[in-house]
Amino acid sequence: MIALEDSVADVIGKAQRGLGVSDSQVADRAGVSIEQVRAARDGNANREVLTKIAAVLQLDGAALGGLASYQPPRISIDGLAMFNTHYGDMTVNAYLVWDPRSRAAIAFDTGANCSPVLGKVDDQKLDVQLILLTHSHPDHVADLAKLRSTTGAPIYISNRESATGANGIEDGREFTVGRLRVRSLLTWGHSRGGMTYYITGLEKPLAIVGDAVFAGSMGGGNVSYTDALQTNRDKIFTLPDETIICPGHGPLTTVGSEKAHNPFFAAEFRAKSPDSSQ
Ligand SMILES: [Fe+2]
Repeated sequence: MIALEDSVADVIGKAQRGLGVSDSQVADRAGVSIEQVRAARDGNANREVLTKIAAVLQLDGAALGGLASYQPPRISIDGLAMFNTHYGDMTVNAYLVWDPRSRAAIAFDTGANCSPVLGKVDDQKLDVQLILLTHSHPDHVADLAKLRSTTGAPIYISNRESATGANGIEDGREFTVGRLRVRSLLTWGHSRGGMTYYITGLEKPLAIVGDAVFAGSMGGGNVSYTDALQTNRDKIFTLPDETIICPGHGPLTTVGSEKAHNPFFAAEFRAKSPDSSQ
């Protein structure tokens, strides 16, 4: 399994940037020293300090404290393939989802290089009928021209963003490919038109989320941190717990696992569990 995309330090940094709070403000509000805040961001904080910092940053303290050892469930399902390619010094995911009976397939993003996607298409004798883009950040659409010319499939992206040759769609657009049904869910905030695609028709539902949510983290709230959090809560964390989350970076996970372990979201679900009254 590939490693988590974000460390404790990354999560703290994203929350600080999202809320617009400096190290000294965090230190003040948490009742810790500025050195302790910096140490936490360097990955060297004890649980007590981390819990105090988490509270100030509206993160779940237990999930943040457990992040370093968090391993999302191992997932393997017929009709889903993940491709992890190198884009500069980072890695990025693209996906193929197909109807195992008809071999009709959908490609999600291209990653840095779509050759592995095309290799799988050949190998599995798939027919790519649709290309759906989660957002237009270059690491996700780097090889779109090749994917398009090789498959001849139509391309769709949120109408709040654009990509060469792509058609714009809104929240709630539905597609049918073989026995797969896809619904677009606007999960913006990391990018202006970030789109999640919810897919049913396989053994378990899937959500191709782009950079909306990562296992144990989320994409930076570059456009709006508040809306990134809120659209994730409304559109992704309301999906069935068994839904497999397919992020643009890092490993696969599930909605249920993120409810328990994602520092940005776990507090809400912990508060709702019957155990919290004790
Ligand atoms: Fe992105």
